[in-house]
Amino acid sequence: SGDVNRELKKRAAAKAVELIKPGMVVGIGHGSTAIEAVYCLASLFETGKIRDIVVVPCSNHMVEETRKLGIPMSTLEEHPVVDLTIDGADEVDPQLNLIKGGGGAFLHEKILAEASRREIIIVDETKLSPILGTRWAVPVEVISFGWRSQAEYLQTLGATVKLRQDSSCNPIKTDQGNLILDCRFGPIADPVRLAGQIKGRAGIVEHGLFLGLASEVIVGCRSGVCHLKR
Ligand code: A5P
Repeated sequence: SGDVNRELKKRAAAKAVELIKPGMVVGIGHGSTAIEAVYCLASLFETGKIRDIVVVPCSNHMVEETRKLGIPMSTLEEHPVVDLTIDGADEVDPQLNLIKGGGGAFLHEKILAEASRREIIIVDETKLSPILGTRWAVPVEVISFGWRSQAEYLQTLGATVKLRQDSSCNPIKTDQGNLILDCRFGPIADPVRLAGQIKGRAGIVEHGLFLGLASEVIVGCRSGVCHLKR
């Protein structure tokens, strides 16, 4: 199913890249779906089918990948307003609200999404969910100072909390050097309320609930590509 999923991710990515026009500043998120958009972009760029664009990647990893492929790159400092961003997601509900952050880069991804005129989310059909939290934990980025206090607090909001670790059980650090707490809430009845509660606490930097931020979701399905708009 890995290969099938990759094929579906590629389909969604190819469709999203069609939205890019000459002169655009293009934001790129993080993860195994967003990278397919970068590959797609690179081949269109090589063959001259896309020109005069500049890409703003949102993680150190994606900066590396973009550089390797020779795509013109810039930063949010230089281009504080982005025309169109392409990014993945872990879970998408019918209102196009999202859980993101499986790849850990959600703080930068949210900054980029809020700086973008259009936020295009690309997913394979397995990411669609009737209600957020059904399948995924909400990742929460915390400052390492006092992180256990934040874990306690998140538990009082109803979450089962796990510090994200690598395979040798070392805490995973974000690009900012912070920690990630994966908070399993189960189905979230009121994501807006929960997002407010999570944010109302010193030491909590950001969370992976993206509410009202996606302008469009492009879904790679076995039967083709489906384009969801708000
Ligand atoms: C990265 O921090 C995430 O928000 C990704 O966008 C999300 O985890 C989707 O990742 P995949 O495209 O690898 O499934």
